[in-house]
Amino acid sequence: MQTDGSEKLWGGRFSADMADLALAYSESTDADSPMVQEDIWGSQAHALMLARCGIIPEEDLREILRWLEYARQEYEAGRMTLQREREDVHMNVEFYLREHAGPEMGGRLHTARSRNDQVVTDCRMHLRSRLLDVQEAVAALQSVLLSLAARHTETVMPGYTHTQHAQPISVGFWLSGHAAAFQRDQQRLEQTYVRVNRCPLGAAALAGTSFPTDRRLTAALLGFDGVEEHSLDAVGDRDFVMESLADLAILGVHLSRLAEEIVVFSTYEFGMIEVHDKHASGSSIMPQKKNPCLAELARGKTGRLVGRLMQSLMTFKGLISGYNRDLQEDKPPLWEALAIAESGARVLAETMRDATLKTDRMRELVGKNFATATELANYLVRERGLPFRTCHEIIGSLVGQLIQEGETLNNHERVREILSAAGHDLTLEEIADVVDPEACLRLQRSLGSTGPEQTTALVGNLEDARSDAEVLAAERRAALLAARQWTARLVEAVLEGKGLDGLEW
Ligand code: ARG
Repeated sequence: MQTDGSEKLWGGRFSADMADLALAYSESTDADSPMVQEDIWGSQAHALMLARCGIIPEEDLREILRWLEYARQEYEAGRMTLQREREDVHMNVEFYLREHAGPEMGGRLHTARSRNDQVVTDCRMHLRSRLLDVQEAVAALQSVLLSLAARHTETVMPGYTHTQHAQPISVGFWLSGHAAAFQRDQQRLEQTYVRVNRCPLGAAALAGTSFPTDRRLTAALLGFDGVEEHSLDAVGDRDFVMESLADLAILGVHLSRLAEEIVVFSTYEFGMIEVHDKHASGSSIMPQKKNPCLAELARGKTGRLVGRLMQSLMTFKGLISGYNRDLQEDKPPLWEALAIAESGARVLAETMRDATLKTDRMRELVGKNFATATELANYLVRERGLPFRTCHEIIGSLVGQLIQEGETLNNHERVREILSAAGHDLTLEEIADVVDPEACLRLQRSLGSTGPEQTTALVGNLEDARSDAEVLAAERRAALLAARQWTARLVEAVLEGKGLDGLEW
């Protein structure tokens, strides 16, 4: 029979070690490797709570904390790597303790907890700071878009519907539109964080424990905003993972839409934007090529983001209550999606910051394809009191005739003649004041429209919301750091030999 000191933590029940194949298939050290700090912090908090509640003696706490602290320092110095034969991060940390403090201490630390509540605690802890990283990257991207937008509230470009020229818009309106979508991503991430940052530790395997634990204390020490109370639910559900992945997938779709415009607008045909050489690549055969590869990849990697969400939904959908080993599959897609979303936002921020907006080409395009026809119809409604449908008809025939003649609305004289022949007399000045794209832009004044005043207001409001999100993320980060430092001060005081009652609980 294996004893407490054996390499396996469940030796008692088993007569054979795990087969190599079984271990290789089931170990999770790669997926766990981002959570080493969290696992050690979680163990420190758990040990402090156990001692505070009189569940383990103070001398044992001191011994446990000494070696956990040693493990932490070793990890930070790069000397502690996870060993595959120890299966996961929890057993790696616990074995560190067993090796140095003896099997008994390792064993005592595991009172009133299980790897089931440990793993989901570590995961939430790591995820919450990564969500803040993503928010920071999105805020930086928004900042680039909004400062460009503020400079271009009067620069015209074609606005599209059905990917066809529709009406003139400003470059600032176009770019702030993306910032508005990213603002909703910020909101989603902020709201998801509230549900992520709740502590499952102390749920133990599934049923809670008969020891008189204080789950609120552990939660507070770990910087959680509260306890994820229901023990069975806390260990068995991963909705916080699905929700985070859904947020990241939607963010990815937004990144991809911006990326698509960078790609399309930098084609020869559009020619409205040119990415900086340092954000482009060439061709190994065609010497003339300059490819917007970063934007293409940001668009392409969105497939992986959506895939990681789908993968997780499928993994979790058929599981009965309580922990199931399938749940180990939660982390790889999560880490991957966080990295892709964050890097995508950073890459597009730089690409946009350094790209050249070719405003002459935008002006050329918006002026030659009837983008101001709608405004001409509006003008007749306003000035001649005709119903909109009638004006639509009049301007429709005008456009049809100009196209036949190979003309555009820029030929004011011809516009005047055709309208006058149809019984609608406009002066050349009246025509110029409407069909000129800049003039047309200035006429737009409804709430949220592309007119310079409205766009300036949109940009201002978006900048306020963006910076509020940035402040909240920074506050949340500071709260996590404060909790980390609180735990560290308690650990230090215990190691200095201070009695538990005199500590700052
Ligand atoms: N590696 C596991 C995971 O990621 C940790 C929990 C394992 N629990 C267990 N009873 N085997 O989910």
